[in-house]
Amino acid sequence: MGNKEDRFNRPDLKIPVSLGVIMDGNGRWAKKRHLPRSAGHKAGGDSLYELCKNCGYYGVKYLTVYAFSTENWSRPEAEISALMKLFVESFDKYDPELEKYGIRLRFSGDISAMPENIQKVCRRAEERSAGRTNLQLIIALNYGGRREIATAARKLAESCVKGDIKPEDITEEMMSSNMYLPDVPDPDLIIRPSGEMRISNFLLWECAYSELWVSDVLWPDFGFDELTRAFEDYTKRDRRFGGLSKVDSDSPEDSK
Ligand code: IPE
Ligand code: IPE
Ligand code: MG
Repeated sequence: MGNKEDRFNRPDLKIPVSLGVIMDGNGRWAKKRHLPRSAGHKAGGDSLYELCKNCGYYGVKYLTVYAFSTENWSRPEAEISALMKLFVESFDKYDPELEKYGIRLRFSGDISAMPENIQKVCRRAEERSAGRTNLQLIIALNYGGRREIATAARKLAESCVKGDIKPEDITEEMMSSNMYLPDVPDPDLIIRPSGEMRISNFLLWECAYSELWVSDVLWPDFGFDELTRAFEDYTKRDRRFGGLSKVDSDSPEDSK
């Protein structure tokens, strides 16, 4: 990474190792400016580049961003082709910058069902960046949490049919290791800009104990200040994972 500015020097902040972002609100951003929705998506791409840099400086290790859902195919054809064009252009265009910051690019989702030219660009971007170690940027493309879980279930069912495992042997860990990118840790924090209080089929299996943070800022306007606000709030969260917080488990009443 280049020289880190002072504003990233925040030892008081707890930084998530793994962060998820639902990049929502591009259409509303464009509408407010009387621009076509495609202009909103383009501005959203620039915002993603900013986020990568900021996450790299803050020390996030895995950043998973929701770029296109399995349900987004129901949008008008013109919007879909503008998005596909943007994907093809961006993965190549931003690569020298990503390289400068040591950012490895990976994809999560039903990539094999994407148009061939997109698959090629994705493969190229993954291969080219495989040796970079500062931050992993995972782009969820043609991604659906339900499809990911169904795919994992299918793989395990096939192993049962082959006789490699028995149905009663299937565990949560085996499900986890059959998700798209099993080596990527579950998100500690999921941010959703644009005010919508829903998960929209993002990382359904992985979000079991993720902290959620919703912002009213539209994705193309989401910058350093809003990211810092999210981390400030995350720092105050008491993650209990079904257990008790430190204070409660140490109280005399509980040890009686
Ligand atoms: C998110 O922005 C980008 C994609 C879903 C591809 P939207 O296009 O959903 O923007 P809004 O929600 O209409 O404002
Ligand atoms: C979620 O946003 C998907 C992405 C950001 C890629 P949507 O705009 O598709 O979600 P809904 O329709 O508001 O739930
Ligand atoms: Mg939306």
